[in-house]
Amino acid sequence: MAGIVLQTEGGSGGIVIDDDWPGYSLELFSYPAHYAGDLECVVVPHGVIMDRTERLARNIMDDLGDHDIVVLCVLKGGYQFCADLVDKIKALSCSSDRTIPMRVHFIRLKSYLNVLIVEGIIGTGKTLKALLKHVEAFKPKMIKVAGLLVKRVPHNTARLPHYVGFEIPDRFVVGYALDYNEYFRDLNHICVISESGKLKYKM
Ligand code: IMP
Repeated sequence: MAGIVLQTEGGSGGIVIDDDWPGYSLELFSYPAHYAGDLECVVVPHGVIMDRTERLARNIMDDLGDHDIVVLCVLKGGYQFCADLVDKIKALSCSSDRTIPMRVHFIRLKSYLNVLIVEGIIGTGKTLKALLKHVEAFKPKMIKVAGLLVKRVPHNTARLPHYVGFEIPDRFVVGYALDYNEYFRDLNHICVISESGKLKYKM
């Protein structure tokens, strides 16, 4: 087990992926052939991301159902998670008597009441901290944060998201809209990039 255990305000830091877990072999999954040799392993397969996202959507519905919320998507790494999370919330709204009226924004932010910030990955937390400062300046009634991945980075002092998909080791991951110099956004699984992949797509 890793040395640092993350906790969100709600108590659950998401599914914990240990530092010493080697990941799934790439042979077990399909992925774009042009990335052969560029990846080390699959950390979170696409199906698991979707199942976990569905559960986060249910948690969000339970907490925020009937609130009018603005979903703020942090580009570009957060767009796939945001799109899938919003889809799952919509599906739950259709199949229950509770609904969340939602508007999705990407950059613009005015004076909103309830804001759900959706981020793909949180590393040191500096980006999220700066964003929260910006959003808080508009004095919304409520701010919640959903992060698909939170890295176990030493000395991370930032506030953790209220909704966490997975807590992962401090390694550079790509896929599911997370990129390395704009590559790998077309990969469905979340994978660890290989050293040769880093060299190949180095700027
Ligand atoms: P932070 O400010 O250190 O929390 O970093 C957050 C931002 O860095 C994310 O929004 C990503 O754009 C980028 N980032 C950090 N780690 C990774 C990674 O493992 N893969 C892809 N992007 C990452």
